[in-house]
Amino acid sequence: MADGDAPGRGVKIAPSILAADFARLGEELAAIEAAGADLVHIDVMDGHYVPNITIGPAVVKALRPHTDLAFDVHLMISPVDPYLADFAEAGADIITVHPEAGPHIHSTLQKIRGMGKKAGVSLNPGTPAKMLDYLMDSVDLILVMTVNPGFGGQSFIHSQIDKIAAIRNRIDKSGRDILLEVDGGVNPETAALARDAGADVLVAGTGVFGAGRGRYQEAIDALRASA
Ligand code: DX5
Ligand code: ZN
Repeated sequence: MADGDAPGRGVKIAPSILAADFARLGEELAAIEAAGADLVHIDVMDGHYVPNITIGPAVVKALRPHTDLAFDVHLMISPVDPYLADFAEAGADIITVHPEAGPHIHSTLQKIRGMGKKAGVSLNPGTPAKMLDYLMDSVDLILVMTVNPGFGGQSFIHSQIDKIAAIRNRIDKSGRDILLEVDGGVNPETAALARDAGADVLVAGTGVFGAGRGRYQEAIDALRASA
């Protein structure tokens, strides 16, 4: 669990602003905070590691004053090391990276912690849990992608449930304080599956912002209730 959270408090909901109104991001953050979100998930894409381009550190910095929620920054960029400091200074609280984005995942995670931030590692649907073998002491969060990275609005890949459960087991055995986050295609139905498999944090873009303005609390409550 994250700092200050008692076990059993329940699943955390991290709306992904990828599905928000990009022309009104500041207001969208205030709205999800009021609606009961626990974290803000920020998807950063470079058109190189993934086929889509989203936002950079300047936007993260501009958003920082709009909420007190922690920023969970998911970097889908390659190379990643040259940009870590920019995102750390922009106000990221958790910085999550992909091992395939390279070049040296262990070193990248150490750099993130060295900046005083929580370090996350993200596993794509085709990446085995074995990737974590020598990283458990270097991570604060493990993100299991339940879609291929690059776009919101995709369907949950059910084969990842076994991987989520295996990683839950591995975290529990390690006795370490590591959050298990699930990202992609999360709706009330798949939230229940992810939670049963052991997820601590559920990312939802379409599942929250797709509900439409004024209905974010309903959407977050529905995810929490089913999980
Ligand atoms: C995909 C992103 C996800 C995505 C989730 O690359 O990492 O965070 O925005 O969007 P939904 O919830 O719409 O699948
Ligand atoms: Zn994401």
